[in-house]
Amino acid sequence: MFDINKVRNDFPMIRNNPNLIYFDSSATSFKPQCVIDAINKYYSFDNVNIHRGDYDISYRVSKAYEDTRKNIAKFINADDERCIIYTNGATSSLNLLAYGYGKKYLKKGDVILTSYVEHASSILPWFNVCKETGASIKYVPLNADGSFNIDKYKECFNDNIKIVALPYVSNVLGYIYPAKEIINIAHKYNAIVSLDGAQAVPHIKVDVSDLDVDFLSFSSHKMLGPAGVGVLYGKYELLDMMDPLYYGGDSNARFDIEGNLILKNIPYKFESGTPCIEGILGLNSAINYLNEIGIDNIAEYDEELTKYLIDKLSSLNNVTVYNSASTTGIVTFNVNGVFAQDAASYFNKNSIAVRSGNHCAKLLHNVIGINDTIRASLYFYNSKEEIDKFIDIVKDTTIEKCVESIL
Ligand code: ALA
Repeated sequence: MFDINKVRNDFPMIRNNPNLIYFDSSATSFKPQCVIDAINKYYSFDNVNIHRGDYDISYRVSKAYEDTRKNIAKFINADDERCIIYTNGATSSLNLLAYGYGKKYLKKGDVILTSYVEHASSILPWFNVCKETGASIKYVPLNADGSFNIDKYKECFNDNIKIVALPYVSNVLGYIYPAKEIINIAHKYNAIVSLDGAQAVPHIKVDVSDLDVDFLSFSSHKMLGPAGVGVLYGKYELLDMMDPLYYGGDSNARFDIEGNLILKNIPYKFESGTPCIEGILGLNSAINYLNEIGIDNIAEYDEELTKYLIDKLSSLNNVTVYNSASTTGIVTFNVNGVFAQDAASYFNKNSIAVRSGNHCAKLLHNVIGINDTIRASLYFYNSKEEIDKFIDIVKDTTIEKCVESIL
């Protein structure tokens, strides 16, 4: 295991805000000093474009940029770094997949199988693709607590299902869905699987080769890296069949006045224009840091912290917890009789940062029966001491105190 005090000292946001209890890492994570240094280094010493300059600094930055692709491939155990497509974030990855693959290959009668737990980014692109192609969406029934029911999933299948779009870890419930089984069953029906990995890749070991997943989307900013960068991993042959979302410089091999265009091979055909170079170099540093701590150690510690928080919250008689089996840092609850946002504002007055509302998963109320919740999302730089302080505040939270704090 790692030294939590040393880890906390690596994060300037923690050092510079000694009173802040930050329980919103599922929205975005803090960045360790090494990530900030990598961005600074780029702007201070290496601030040139990639793939375009015939000079040493450009060669050096281009190499670091491509080495990052290899580092990401290794991190998720992809055997070919060409299958790592840089995007602007998980949302951008999921849109690229929906439009680049779905819009091209889906037709009337085809079905996309998804669920009510979906984050907007994993479902809204498919709504549009359905309108444009005549395909339709079917929702796999979940258990009443939002956990996955593999038998009900199996019952959904027929040959019309072409795409399964599900999260690996729910951004509201924190449950790890049984991705390997999900994929295995989908493949028996020749359906391809898109996993939204935004909340999984920062917290648990994700092995795309072992999962045999077709597509995986995730964001840098939730895994200690800078915002504005994400990844779409896909199997080579599927990416090769897809169209890009954007056209422009660096993605084409040639074009002529007749409008003939030859795109480069993957990954470059998807990467038009100058990318977020500093963000990608920062992500490289974030991955090195995660590797140093060890993703399995992070998963173990996250689970311990999550259970600690769930146990403490569940023992309070003014609280309802909605995801008591969560293990990935996400704990979703309400203070009984208090509107989630009012409680969150009250926590804020006590230097505690949480998220409240529907957390971009606007269909989930159909499963858990409630629209607005408080989400405390932990990461491995959080401590049990912070949880104890949080519990002291939650246990005394009343509607009167919330109203008073707002006035
Ligand atoms: N997708 C992020 C969240 O769950 C913003 O909060």
